[in-house]
Amino acid sequence: MITRRDFLRQSATAMAAGIILPDALRAKALRASVSASDQLNVALIGCRSMGWNDLVDVMNHPGVNCIGLCDINSSLLDSRAAEAEKKWGRRPDLYGDYRYLLERKDLDAVVIGTPDHWHCLMMTDACAAGKDVYVEKPVANSIAECDAMVRAQQRYGRVVQVGQQQRSSQLWHQMKAIVDSGQLGRIARVNVWANFGYAAILNPAKDGPAPQGIDHEMWLGPAPQRPFNETRLNGLWRMYWDYGGGLLTDWGVHLLDMALWAMNVTGMPLRVAASGANHTYLDNKTETFDSLSVFYQFPQFLIQWSNTAIEQGPYHMNYGLEFKGANATLLVNREGMELIPLDAKQQKQSWKPTNNEHLDHTTNFLDCIRQRRMETACTIQNGAFCAKYAHLGNIAARTRQVLTYDDQKHTFHSKEADRLITPQYRKPWKMFK
Ligand SMILES: NC(=O)c1ccc[n+]([C@@H]2O[C@H](COP(=O)([O-])OP(=O)(O)OC[C@H]3O[C@@H](n4cnc5c(N)ncnc54)[C@H](O)[C@@H]3O)[C@@H](O)[C@H]2O)c1
Repeated sequence: MITRRDFLRQSATAMAAGIILPDALRAKALRASVSASDQLNVALIGCRSMGWNDLVDVMNHPGVNCIGLCDINSSLLDSRAAEAEKKWGRRPDLYGDYRYLLERKDLDAVVIGTPDHWHCLMMTDACAAGKDVYVEKPVANSIAECDAMVRAQQRYGRVVQVGQQQRSSQLWHQMKAIVDSGQLGRIARVNVWANFGYAAILNPAKDGPAPQGIDHEMWLGPAPQRPFNETRLNGLWRMYWDYGGGLLTDWGVHLLDMALWAMNVTGMPLRVAASGANHTYLDNKTETFDSLSVFYQFPQFLIQWSNTAIEQGPYHMNYGLEFKGANATLLVNREGMELIPLDAKQQKQSWKPTNNEHLDHTTNFLDCIRQRRMETACTIQNGAFCAKYAHLGNIAARTRQVLTYDDQKHTFHSKEADRLITPQYRKPWKMFK
């Protein structure tokens, strides 16, 4: 057996010599570089886009084996299985129902890359089955599910990483350090925005029978019964309330997380006001809002969220954060960060990303599993906290009310808003208590 150090040295030598190791050979060497007792068996639930990317990052580490893939789309499963075999030299077992996958005794951890309305059930079932979990963001499609996921992690003591990879980015840690340093002066306001064209659906498919190989019932899961529709199947489910929360939950959890973290917010805002509609295109058929503004009021400052479906924004950034300080403004998104002093005679400063946040986020997950550390880079508590903020904004816009949320008593003190805290699961699905 070669050691991890041997492997890394040999790979470096091969790369320096311009030799590219074939995927499967590299994967075999990665596996062999870790002792049998330290090997981890992982599986993926939801194989189309982000979940697959996460799995590839996970598999890019020593001593990890992909033993299962699960999806409701059988042709996607077949093609991913072929890819997995080519990349990692072993064909994983295939599942259409994640509950059979979770029965496997030899499975250590799962990656959950399904639409948001499934995250809570899959994550809580995985914890109950004794598996560690990498769950994509937003952690859940409702406030009550966020709480259920925190309870499950605590009850079963599993390692949980939320797919908010910015928490593993050096650039965003620099942002936090700058805000904490006080050099921006008193910050009165943080503007957060995400403008993306997929917030509009202009030509939706017609409802019809599900194609062969698509398990529509299992796609719907706990969500209300609805006929199959091709437009909702892949990715664009984000723009329908039963499965997602539009740009505010999709991008909002990443970006609001950064605003809340930087501003050291640990509780609920004093109040939330919001207004939203579909204004960008008159024939936009999404249920979620393509034009939305949310105001989170705190005693000392305001955080404002906004989104549209036109891909432009302030400072030529279609998404980002702007910390408005009395001495300087700090602008940041994944591409870089700029500090603009109020005094025009002073020099601007800028920074670029310096690490692969996706890869480092999975490294952190695997390290935490091996060391049984619960404090991952983005815990379920972190993920639940900012997901609640996103849901607060959507609920304020949907009810057209200025809201105050009591996170201990689980109420808005508004019957209409309270009805949106907990989704009514379709039978036989039951939310974790
Ligand atoms: N961290 C990030 O930067 C990032 C980026 C993109 C997406 N995401 C998140 O990843 C998740 C997936 O998004 P996506 O864009 O990959 O969606 P997608 O629609 O492309 O893929 C979802 C996959 O889940 C499968 N699926 C649906 N129901 C299932 C079930 N019951 N069992 C097994 N598989 C099921 C679908 O068939 C599909 O293959 C979302 O929560 C999204 O918010 C995170």
